[in-house]
Amino acid sequence: MIDKLWGGRFQAETNALVDQFGASINFDQLMAAEDLEGSLAHVKMLGKTGILSADDVAKIVAGLESIQTDLAAGKIEFSVENEDIHMNIESILTDRIGPVAGKLHTARSRNDQVATDFHLYVKNRIPLVIKEITNLQKALLKLAEANVTTIMPGYTHLQHAQPISYAHYLMAYFQMLQRDKERFEFNLKHTDISPLGAAALAGTTFPIDREFTAQELGFNQIYANSLDAVSDRDFAIEFLSNSSILMMHLSRFSEEISMWVSQEFQYLELSDGYTTGSSIMPQKKNPDMVELIRGKTGRIYGNLMRLLTTLKGIPLAYNKDLQEDKEGVFDTLKTIVPALKIFTGMIKTLKVNEQKMETSTENDYSNATELADYLAVKGLPFRQAHAVVGKLVLHGIQTHQNLQDMPLAELKNGSELIEADVYPELQSETAVARRNSFGGTGFDQVKLQIENAKKLT
Ligand code: ARG
Repeated sequence: MIDKLWGGRFQAETNALVDQFGASINFDQLMAAEDLEGSLAHVKMLGKTGILSADDVAKIVAGLESIQTDLAAGKIEFSVENEDIHMNIESILTDRIGPVAGKLHTARSRNDQVATDFHLYVKNRIPLVIKEITNLQKALLKLAEANVTTIMPGYTHLQHAQPISYAHYLMAYFQMLQRDKERFEFNLKHTDISPLGAAALAGTTFPIDREFTAQELGFNQIYANSLDAVSDRDFAIEFLSNSSILMMHLSRFSEEISMWVSQEFQYLELSDGYTTGSSIMPQKKNPDMVELIRGKTGRIYGNLMRLLTTLKGIPLAYNKDLQEDKEGVFDTLKTIVPALKIFTGMIKTLKVNEQKMETSTENDYSNATELADYLAVKGLPFRQAHAVVGKLVLHGIQTHQNLQDMPLAELKNGSELIEADVYPELQSETAVARRNSFGGTGFDQVKLQIENAKKLT
């Protein structure tokens, strides 16, 4: 027998590299609080069902609670020799209360134990992510409310397409974040299930009470199948997938902000608090944070790919491969929460250059659709109207004038249907105001969007 919790059937020591390579304590110690919580629920259940005596349970509970206190005070040290968080805590418990500590593992396996810890860990943190998404949504709403009548070029193919309200643009991101939030809420449902009591894979011969432990731990449901309970990591994959989609949204937003603060656009200015300088060029104010959030998106996708790939070939039930499930999730949490906080701060403090935005809708042909619509209303089939306006745009490019500045006689060369009443319609403000179809950029629609969105935060 070797000196390990599972050492009974071994005669020779484990190779040192195997100990190191196999240990997870360096990262799974993040779940120490959850592990203690799970053990407390389990041992209380063992008492309630009469599997352990009240006396044994009292000793184990007191021991676990003393570890809880010391853990909170930062006084617990873990060792690689004890491999993972579960065996570390059991070993600390044994040091404190003696061999009775060994009764804690009755009717339990590390397989349902680690699954329980990990479910608890993710379940406790999804609400934090949802809260940060909501904070960002609130910041967007506020900025949108202040910018309903701020006009900017709407783009397709990164070419000026049609003028839009800046608030309309912001509310598009609000909606993306709303779906992100809903995905995490759904994710919570799949995380809020107790694996405890599945034991190693097949359940147990002891008369355990899974309802009781689930309730103690605040789980909403219980895994219906013990094999599934110990090998399911869908909740973690969903978390990483939801995080990937969230980061993809933040990354798109970041890309636009980094363009829009550039000399070429000057639509926005980020506050000093959310930008950095250059070590050589004194004039620089770099939008590092949006670049980093865009960059870290790759890392979050990587975490998703990593777990998907790890899971794809694993036979039921527990296999050591599953130990690889945690670090990507920890890393993702450590990344997305600050990313959301930074984004919110950035949105709250950025300055909008309304003048620049609006002017750039006046020195282009983004009112061409207005003119085509005008002709269509006058009875010209839209396809023909499109061709007429196309020729007028070409004429404008060749003679260096915008449509709204072209003399009526020249416009009439395009079509006799054009009258002086066309000019107000060619103003970008009119173009935006008139797009009042549901969900459109018309000011009234944007105000309605904002009002409806407020109910979601
Ligand atoms: N450290 C392990 C993990 O994270 C705990 C479960 C170990 N179970 C086992 N049968 N070896 O997956």
